[in-house]
Amino acid sequence: MLQPSFHIREIPIYGDVILSPMDGYSDLPFRSVCRTLGSAMSYTEFVNVDELQGRHGGSRRTQQKLVFDPAERPISFQIYGHDVDRIVRTAVRLQELQPDIIDINMGCYVKNISERGAGAGMLRFPDRVAQLFSTLARELQVPVTAKMRIGWDDNQRNYLEIAQIVAGCGASALAVHGRTRAQAYKGAADWDAIAEIRQQLHIPVLGNGDVRTPADIRRMQQHTGCAAVLIGRGAIGNPWIFQHKAAESVNTAEKIALVRRHLALNQQFYGAAAGLVLFRKHVAHYLQHTARGESLRLALLTCEHTADFEALIESLGSAQPVAVPA
Ligand SMILES: Cc1cc2nc3c(=O)[nH]c(=O)nc-3n(C[C@H](O)[C@H](O)[C@H](O)COP(=O)(O)O)c2cc1C
Repeated sequence: MLQPSFHIREIPIYGDVILSPMDGYSDLPFRSVCRTLGSAMSYTEFVNVDELQGRHGGSRRTQQKLVFDPAERPISFQIYGHDVDRIVRTAVRLQELQPDIIDINMGCYVKNISERGAGAGMLRFPDRVAQLFSTLARELQVPVTAKMRIGWDDNQRNYLEIAQIVAGCGASALAVHGRTRAQAYKGAADWDAIAEIRQQLHIPVLGNGDVRTPADIRRMQQHTGCAAVLIGRGAIGNPWIFQHKAAESVNTAEKIALVRRHLALNQQFYGAAAGLVLFRKHVAHYLQHTARGESLRLALLTCEHTADFEALIESLGSAQPVAVPA
């Protein structure tokens, strides 16, 4: 029988490569594509607990972020906020939607989030982190996990302190993006810091940052000993990374079939018009490494009709260019 790679509390995780949460990208359609290709579980895009307050429970966009397909399970809802009571109350209520896990974002670097003490801003308040995780561990039925950066800036790389608090206060796994909040995406992710955290903790540590190729997956695992690797940007346009394939090695027929499937899922989820428009940001990435992608890019990015879009995609596989709609 297939053995789980690791557990998040009692939840078995089959596989050790996972799509990282990405606002604007890791929605239900893209998560489903990645999960089918081998991502071992799903994280939602992050959701602001403040937006879930009130009678109507947030905007349509916020509510859409929490919709999932049962086939994605295990599914983790990722939330963020700065107020312990509000985060706890929201997390308790969100259990009604039956996620498997609730994850706390402690990595977002965006100014108006981190500077009010949410996202990576939480790293500056170890006492608040302790209070939050001990309360969540007590109040939630589902396991709670965290995703963190390694500190606020170069002078405050307090990752070991925070990691030990999170684990000691009852979290069941910890994902670590090896950059500080001040780095945003600059410089290289510090895999040594991830390895250090992994050596100190007795809960699964998920390594994250700069994994773009199958070789990177192995290097991250060997370097850090992490239970699983989270892949963000490297999966956009290349969900085959979850099959340990490089984008260059995926043949055109396979690419066309998947682009069509992803588009169909997008249109099912968002409706035909919005689904097509929202797909544009993905298609530019899918076209990389295709022989005729560059010449089709502009036409695809301005195309407004599904049939034209599909004809353009199909033409990636033919020697002759199709007539591009004006
Ligand atoms: C467009 C975008 C949106 C992101 N949104 C989130 C998010 O909602 N929650 C989160 O924890 N991290 C978010 N991240 C960070 C990624 O999950 C990941 O930690 C980071 O991109 C580093 O991993 P990578 O080098 O594999 O991309 C986002 C990253 C990008 C590029």
